[in-house]
Amino acid sequence: MTDPVRLAAVLDAPADWTQESGSGYVLHREPQADIRLAFAESVARGLEDHPRTLSCTYLYDEEGSRIFEAITRQPEYYQTRTEDAILEAAASQLRLQAGNTTVVELGSGSSSKTRNILDAWCRRGPTRYVPIDVSGAALDAACRDLTGRFPTLTVEALATTYERGIPLAARMSPLLLIFLGSTIGNFTHGELDAFLDLLAGHLRPEDRLLIGIDLIKSTARLESAYNDAAGWSERFTLNLFARMNRELDTHIPLDAIEHVAYFNEALARIEIYARFRREVDIEIPLLGRGFRMAPGEMVLTEISRKFEVDDFAAHLNRFGFSLEEAWSDAENLFSVLLFRRRRENPYADNRRRSRIRALQRMRSETLDILAPVAGAVNQDRPALHEALISRLWDLAAHESHWLMSLRAPQVDRSGLNEASPPPTLDEVLLHIAAVRRQLLRDMAAPGNLATPPAAPGVPRPYNPRREALLHETLLEDIQELGDHDYEPVHEGAPPARPDQISTGEMLLIPDGPFRMGQPAEHDAEENEQPQHEARVPSFMLDAAPVTNREYLSFMEDGGYENPEFWNDDGWRFRCSQGLAAPAGWVQDSGVWTIRHLSTSSTLDPFRPVCLVSWFEAEAFARWCGKRLPGEAEWEKAATWDPVRRLASPYPWGSLPPQADLANLDHDLWEPMPVGSYPQGRSFYGCHQMLGDVWEWTAGTYQPYPRHGSTPFGGDSNSVWGDHLRVLRGGSWATSAPAITCHTRRAALPSARNLFAGFRCARNL
Ligand code: AVJ
Repeated sequence: MTDPVRLAAVLDAPADWTQESGSGYVLHREPQADIRLAFAESVARGLEDHPRTLSCTYLYDEEGSRIFEAITRQPEYYQTRTEDAILEAAASQLRLQAGNTTVVELGSGSSSKTRNILDAWCRRGPTRYVPIDVSGAALDAACRDLTGRFPTLTVEALATTYERGIPLAARMSPLLLIFLGSTIGNFTHGELDAFLDLLAGHLRPEDRLLIGIDLIKSTARLESAYNDAAGWSERFTLNLFARMNRELDTHIPLDAIEHVAYFNEALARIEIYARFRREVDIEIPLLGRGFRMAPGEMVLTEISRKFEVDDFAAHLNRFGFSLEEAWSDAENLFSVLLFRRRRENPYADNRRRSRIRALQRMRSETLDILAPVAGAVNQDRPALHEALISRLWDLAAHESHWLMSLRAPQVDRSGLNEASPPPTLDEVLLHIAAVRRQLLRDMAAPGNLATPPAAPGVPRPYNPRREALLHETLLEDIQELGDHDYEPVHEGAPPARPDQISTGEMLLIPDGPFRMGQPAEHDAEENEQPQHEARVPSFMLDAAPVTNREYLSFMEDGGYENPEFWNDDGWRFRCSQGLAAPAGWVQDSGVWTIRHLSTSSTLDPFRPVCLVSWFEAEAFARWCGKRLPGEAEWEKAATWDPVRRLASPYPWGSLPPQADLANLDHDLWEPMPVGSYPQGRSFYGCHQMLGDVWEWTAGTYQPYPRHGSTPFGGDSNSVWGDHLRVLRGGSWATSAPAITCHTRRAALPSARNLFAGFRCARNL
């Protein structure tokens, strides 16, 4: 007998991944971080949540997977066997409809859910299968088992997360991507949208998606599936705590915990909790942290959403997936849905249209910022007006330049770039309005805005970030050169003052690699690229920015008089300027007042100190035996989620900033007390990393390693240098589109005109 025909393995994983291969398979493994530590951090993060939660991904260790297999055999748990029967009946039709595609599976585990599909594919010829799962052990077993069972199957397994596996697998298009077992029900609404956006961004037109969903049905039927009589569901929940005991030495008495699972009808989801029958202290020695569970307290361990076929299909439709076929069982318990990726993607189109809206919003904010200082009084503050005019002029020049670089011939370019700066603010406002009209007309033309650049040099969609950045510099000019009677057009409502303000708390940021910088997207700033792996040893970081009260202690302790705390340049600067307090601080018969943009108010001890130079920040840090954090330390503390091994653009994740998450967008006109944004904390628990005050970091302004190798240039003409220091995190004056936790702003260490404060770090 001749050897069965197999396809050649072709998948290219990143260079630092490992590869094992056997007959008919290759297993690509992403390098693993310390999973014990990641587990510990995930538990700590979940237990400090309100309500407390634990990540359902940790339910599936070896023991958990074994218990789950047992669940799937219980008479009450209809899901697995129903889905199997549906697939068995539908497999050959599915193969005809999907064609000879690569089969990619998410969360494949033992691949037992996939047998029927692989069987239908292999019967019609050599087949390629790409299972993606975080468990390398499960994949390893599946690879051996499947290639023995199907002699014409080529398996290319990816031991990694969906976020990194999907882009790799998508290169195998045309493909059928399958996601079975109603695992999609584990996602919250936000997680589901992020997941679908990821798929829509990587799958090509005509690629297919096959999803198994559990359907809404009687509460009794649903609840019994999660409360089986033989007790496997309970064992499954308890195993999470047993696993904590095994891996994290938590010594949790398991007899104190009971399994509670019920159907939340309003949210159409099963919620599974661990309820504490009595008070229990959970100590995590690895992190030196403890949590007290009250009697009766519930910890959410898993959600399992239930769907209606039509609603689910309508939702996927928004992401560019059309329902092609729906298979269900006779009782309508479970459904398997086949979707086809369309050419258009309404979700992405909306995002493009929203870019135009963002530009218009940025412009109206610019006008609001200028309104109080524009008009007849031009001559009263010549320095301020000169500064504002030149900034606006630069903005118009930038937009004109962008318009000129377009190849669109219909653009009327007359009068765009000639005149020299007009003398008055009113005139320059007319000028920027004229340029903007041209820009919007052009952006609305189909094609210009449609696609990211195919190659360097092709114009990118005009980025509203440019104008967003301008807002803060205008406000800095007004703060520095105005005369402090600025009356804002708009003022937001401040957040509730936190009841307990604990200053001086430091948090442990444990050792371990993370990803620093921005991925190479068409909008990313050049100085934040390339994204690269960085590593910093464990260190302690202030939980919040340094407050006025803490800074006052430094002053009262002779901080400004003692050269010991200052570096040489700093001390020279301090002496030449006669510094004795942050900019805008005035003392009158023992009482400190802070003159801010629009107000003069008595010093609030709990607000972050603002308007200090790098030199002052560094002297403070030395005075209290600490230091300023490095850029990598700051970015890790702000962005890194060691559990998902993902860096988010914001401390709280990837949702855009909102008023309850951070003080941004020149809405409140000053920094808010520390602890005002508990929902905006980073994974590690740091407050106010974004907004309130820029934070000085230790490092000088240097390009990231391998800078210059990225395909897309940015807008900034970066001038690197040892003489510049980097600020992170933006301030109350920063417009939201201008800032993420990756943003790097460079300034001279002597700058005292920025809305800048700092937080301190120290070594372990
Ligand atoms: C594997 C997520 C589909 O939600 O039914 C079963 C997990 N948890 N019993 C589900 C589960 C408790 C299962 N999924």
